[in-house]
Amino acid sequence: MKGSFPKEVYLNGEWLSSEAAKISVFDRGFMHGDGIYEVIPFYKGKSFLLSEHLKRLKYCLSEIYLDFDLSGIEGLVYEALQRAKLGKEDAAVYIQITRGVTPRTHFIPQNTEPTFLMYAFPAQLGGFENRSWKVLLYQDLRWQRCDIKTTSWLANTMANSKSHELGLNETILYRDGLVTEGSHSSIFFIKGNIVYTHPEGPAILSGITRKFVIGLCKEHGITLHEEPFPLEELGNVHEVFCTGTTTQIMQVTEMIYKGKTVFKSSDNGEVLKKLQSAFKEKTRSL
Ligand code: PDD
Repeated sequence: MKGSFPKEVYLNGEWLSSEAAKISVFDRGFMHGDGIYEVIPFYKGKSFLLSEHLKRLKYCLSEIYLDFDLSGIEGLVYEALQRAKLGKEDAAVYIQITRGVTPRTHFIPQNTEPTFLMYAFPAQLGGFENRSWKVLLYQDLRWQRCDIKTTSWLANTMANSKSHELGLNETILYRDGLVTEGSHSSIFFIKGNIVYTHPEGPAILSGITRKFVIGLCKEHGITLHEEPFPLEELGNVHEVFCTGTTTQIMQVTEMIYKGKTVFKSSDNGEVLKKLQSAFKEKTRSL
């Protein structure tokens, strides 16, 4: 995996080489996954939906009762890009805040010193409209607060590994027969020119790209229903796509459920094409 790490990170107030950046083994992020994170995209150095990402970061901090002062974070984000020589490139910035070093308690200790990590990395943000995913449907075994973007990834990575093992691109999760979202993406279904996606709430992450695509549908007069899509309806779907910060709007060409193909689509339909070109236009004219 060498080479997939940034050369430099910002850790607790200082810029350090990745090798020199160390944390305590008693950090609650390391010990318990007690932390949250964000991934913010930059198109040729221009931020996209930065304030929405920072608003969600603030929401997640408050939902896990973690006090952390985010003032000055925008300057740091741009400094991370500059220092990584990504100030004019397609890139992303990773931000992670854990509760910090405490004794090994189940209760949440008060007045802890959070651990703050940030770094910029190059991201492939071009050409999404020419790529596609094949996905696996799998039961959603995550906790009941998926709206919190937690570093506790175990359920997501165990689910994602199920599709990865099959050489597929993403695992799409379902709970009680209703599709929620991907292990690291939101999902939309198009049936008879109507777009469906799971409503906001604790069952899914409030995807920033998801919300932007909902706005695109409104802007382009595309009917969208925020309602959970039933597994048994997948046979009548015309188009499927996933969204995410580094996924953008990704066509899904095949969905596999219990070893069988339950959805297959070759070329992008009109609605998907319209959304992808609108997304590309917006992100390339920032
Ligand atoms: N993942 N749902 C889950 C579970 C996610 O992890 C993500 C994003 C999304 C898409 O949300 P957004 O449009 O705000 O990126 C939905 C990020 C990109 C990641 O883990 O890298």
